[in-house]
Amino acid sequence: MTIFTIDDVKKTFRNGEVEEQVLKGINLSLQEGEITALVGASGSGKSTILTIAAGLQQASTGQVLFKGKNLTEMSQEQIRAIRASEFGFVFQSSHLVPFLTVQEQLLLMLNVSETKMNKQQQKEEVEKILQLVDMHHRRDAYPASLSGGEKQRVAIARAIIHKPKMLFADEPTASLDSERSRDVMTLIRDLTKTLNITTLMVTHDEEMLPYADRIITMKDGLVI
Ligand SMILES: Nc1ncnc2c1ncn2[C@@H]1O[C@H](COP(=O)(O)OP(=O)(O)O)[C@@H](O)[C@H]1O
Ligand SMILES: [Mg+2]
Repeated sequence: MTIFTIDDVKKTFRNGEVEEQVLKGINLSLQEGEITALVGASGSGKSTILTIAAGLQQASTGQVLFKGKNLTEMSQEQIRAIRASEFGFVFQSSHLVPFLTVQEQLLLMLNVSETKMNKQQQKEEVEKILQLVDMHHRRDAYPASLSGGEKQRVAIARAIIHKPKMLFADEPTASLDSERSRDVMTLIRDLTKTLNITTLMVTHDEEMLPYADRIITMKDGLVI
């Protein structure tokens, strides 16, 4: 079932006098529960399409439909609410808050996403998700004492703790070695399948492609 549609999305950036059309009419449909990998050379527009899909920036023209709702017609406040409750994000860098412990990072996310859990339920949810990503033993650790792979596991836990429908991942393994990358991809795959999350993932690492259900290649602002 199609849950997410990108329909003829174009994006033009203006740098001074110069206009650059970075996306030249992108069409994509994402199936519920599937991992779609977006590949292509650096500068081909992968991150731009991901951030437009996630409502982090606007398309110049075209539509983005999530569960039949047109994100491009929504107010910033409506998009913010959808992002907070239905979308999860993982980036190349884990972006953990340096002065919060592992479990505090996750509690913070539950507060941002405005889930209707009381304090006790929140704590239980954090425990559960930390077991899932195998970071329970490090719940009181600060980011500085975690390895790159551990940080990324916490970032993944934070991305899905509010049970989003969509996961947007931009080069989630780019800062990890091959073995850690495979661990992180296995985790993303297992979690998204178990929780029926639909994932759009940008990668330039061919080794990560076997983890995807579908692979889409971009070149010069077009899907090829
Ligand atoms: N905010 C912006 N302003 C101007 N140009 C941008 C902006 N964001 C991206 N670009 C340009 O758009 C092109 C595609 O960028 P990006 O989507 O980040 O590519 P990729 O993720 O595939 O490497 C690049 O040429 C980049 O310089
Ligand atoms: Mg990019």
